[in-house]
Amino acid sequence: MLPTVSLLLAFTFLVSIAGLFVLIWSISSGQLSMGPEAPKVIFDKGELGHPEDPAGSQAQLASLESALQGSQRYPHARGLGQPEDIEERAELDRVARQPVLYLTLSSLLWLIVGSVAGLIVSIKFHAPDWLVDSAAWGFGRLRPVHLNAVIYGWISMVGMGVSLWLSSRILKTPLRGARWAVWGTHLWNVGVLVGIVSLLLGYSTGVEWLEFPTFVDGLFVIAGAMIGIPILKTIQDRKVHHLYVSIWYIGAAFVWFPVLFLVANIPGLHIGVQHAIINWWFAHNVLGLWLTPLGLAAAYYFIPKILGKPIHSYQLSLLGFWGLALFYSQVGLHHLIGGPVPTWLVTLSIVSSVMMVVPVISVAVNHHMTMIGHFRALRHSPTLAFVVTGAMMYTLVSVQGSLQSLRSINTVTHFTHATVAHAHLGVYGFVSFIMFGSLYFILPRLTRWEWPFPRLIQAHYGLALSGILVYFVFLSIGGVLQGLKMLDASAPFQDSVLVTHPYLIARSVGGALMTLGHIIFAYHVLVLVKRSGPMRDRPRFAYRPQPQQRGAGA
Ligand code: HEM
Ligand code: HEM
Repeated sequence: MLPTVSLLLAFTFLVSIAGLFVLIWSISSGQLSMGPEAPKVIFDKGELGHPEDPAGSQAQLASLESALQGSQRYPHARGLGQPEDIEERAELDRVARQPVLYLTLSSLLWLIVGSVAGLIVSIKFHAPDWLVDSAAWGFGRLRPVHLNAVIYGWISMVGMGVSLWLSSRILKTPLRGARWAVWGTHLWNVGVLVGIVSLLLGYSTGVEWLEFPTFVDGLFVIAGAMIGIPILKTIQDRKVHHLYVSIWYIGAAFVWFPVLFLVANIPGLHIGVQHAIINWWFAHNVLGLWLTPLGLAAAYYFIPKILGKPIHSYQLSLLGFWGLALFYSQVGLHHLIGGPVPTWLVTLSIVSSVMMVVPVISVAVNHHMTMIGHFRALRHSPTLAFVVTGAMMYTLVSVQGSLQSLRSINTVTHFTHATVAHAHLGVYGFVSFIMFGSLYFILPRLTRWEWPFPRLIQAHYGLALSGILVYFVFLSIGGVLQGLKMLDASAPFQDSVLVTHPYLIARSVGGALMTLGHIIFAYHVLVLVKRSGPMRDRPRFAYRPQPQQRGAGA
C-alpha cells in the first residue's frame, strides 16, 4: 500500500509541475496576451460579419443574415468564401472524415441503446411488474447499462469526434495521425460492448459510474490516449500560433480524463470510506473535467462562428477556463454530504461548488453578451438553436448545482429524484444539446451533402426540448416532495414513495419524447451519410470540386 501511495504522490507532484510549466510556457509564448486578434483566429479571410450554418437552407441563411444585419459589429467584409480557404477546409475535412464519422456513428448507436434502456428503467419505476421474467431486464442491471451507454458510449464518443474536428478546423491543420483515432475508436467500442454485455450478464463492479469490469476501464485509458494523440500532434504541428480557448478546453480534457480514470481504478488501493471518496471525486470529475470542457469547447466555437462575430470578451473566456480548472476538481465530495466522511473534506467541496459560480457566470455573461441583439437568429439557424439552448442549460444546471450542494438544500434533495432531474439537465440539456448542434454543423461538411429533411431537424429539436423540460420540471417537483416526506418523521416511508408516482409517469413521457427524437436524428444522420435524399441547395462555403475532380467522389 505504502509504495502505491508514494507513487501516487510522486505522480501528482509531477503532474502539478507539468501544469506549472504549461502555464509558464503559455505566458512566455504570448498565449495569454489577449490582443484583439486572439478571438478572431477561428475565422478565415472575409468571414467576419457573415453568418454560417451548413444545417440551414439558403432561405434560412438569408433570413439569418437579415436578422443579424445592422446589429453586427463588423462591416460586411469583401472576399467572402475565398476559393483557396474553402479548398483548404475541404482538405481538413477529408482527413478528419473517417475518425470523426466513425466516432459519431458509434456514439449514435450507443445513444439509442442507452435511451431505450433508460426508458425501460423509467417505466419500471411506475410499473414494477413489467419485464421481470429475466434477470437481464431487471432494474439493477439495466440502470447501469443506461448510465454507461450514454456516458461512455454516447457523450464521450461524440465529444471526442467533435473535438477532433474542432482541433483541425481551429488550428487550420490537417489532423496528424488520424489513424490512431480510428484504432482508438475500435478499442473504445469493444470496451463499451464488452461492458454492456457484462452488465446484462450480471457482472458489475458495483461501483457507481465505474460498473464496467476493471479491464474495460484499462481499455478506455488506452483508447482515449489513442484518440487524443492526433489532437496533441495537431496542436504541435499547428499552422495557427494562437491557441483559441476551445483548444485549451479540449487539450486539458484529454489530459485530465486518463489521469482520473487511472487513479480511480488502481486495484486494491481505495478501500471503504476512502473508496467512496475517490469514487465521487472521479464521478463528478468525469462531468466537470471531461464532459463539461468538451461541451464548452464546442459552444465557444459555434456561437461566434455562426454569428460571424468574435466572442464578446476573450479575457472572460480564459478566466472561465482557469476557474474551471481550479475549482471543479474539488467538488466531488458534495455527493457525500451527510455521509461518514471527514466534515472538513465535505465543507471544502461545498466551498468549491459555490466558487464554481465564478467560471460559470463568466461563461454565461460571455455567451449572453455575444448573443445579445441576435436572439432572433435562433429561429433561422438549427445549429445555433441547439448550441445556445445547451449553453443556457449549462448556466441553469450549474447554478442549481451550487445551490443544492449547500447542506440546507441537500438535506431535502439528496437521495431523491431531484438529483436525477439535475443530472439530466446537465448531461442531456447542456452537453447533449451542444453535441447535437455541433453535429448539425459538422456532418454536412464531412459528407459534402445537405441535411435532406429540414423538418426532421425541427422535429428533433422540438422533441428533445419538450422531452427534457417535462423530464426536468416534473421530476424536480416529485423529488422535492419526496424529500420533504422523507424528512417528515410522522409520515410513513411509503408516503414518500407514493407521492412521486404521477411525476414518475411524467418522466417516462418526457423520456419517450427524447428517445423518439434520438431515433429521428439517427435516421436523418444515416440518410445524410449515405448521401441520399433530396439535394436542396448548396450551403454557404460548400466545397464545389472542379469538373475534373468530380469523379473523386466529392
Ligand atoms: C457548478 C456546477 C455544479 C455543481 C456545484 C453541481 C452539484 C451537484 C450536486 C450537489 C449533486 C447532488 C449530489 C447528491 O445530493 O447526491 C449533483 C449531482 C449530479 N450532477 Fe451536478 N453540479 C454542477 C454541474 C453539473 C453539470 C454541468 C453536470 C453535467 C454535465 C452535472 C451532472 C450531475 C450528475 C450526472 C449528477 C448525479 C450523479 C449521480 O448521483 O450519479 N452537474 N451535482
Ligand atoms: C442522452 C440521453 C441521456 C443521458 C446522457 C442520461 C444520463 C443519465 C445519468 C447520468 C443518470 C444517473 C443519474 C443519477 O444517478 O442521479 C441517469 C439515470 C437515469 N436515466 Fe438517463 N440519460 C439520458 C436519457 C434518458 C432517457 C431518454 C430516459 C427515459 C426516461 C432516462 C431515464 C433514466 C432513469 C430512469 C435513470 C435512473 C434514475 C434512478 O436510478 O433513480 N434517461 N441517466
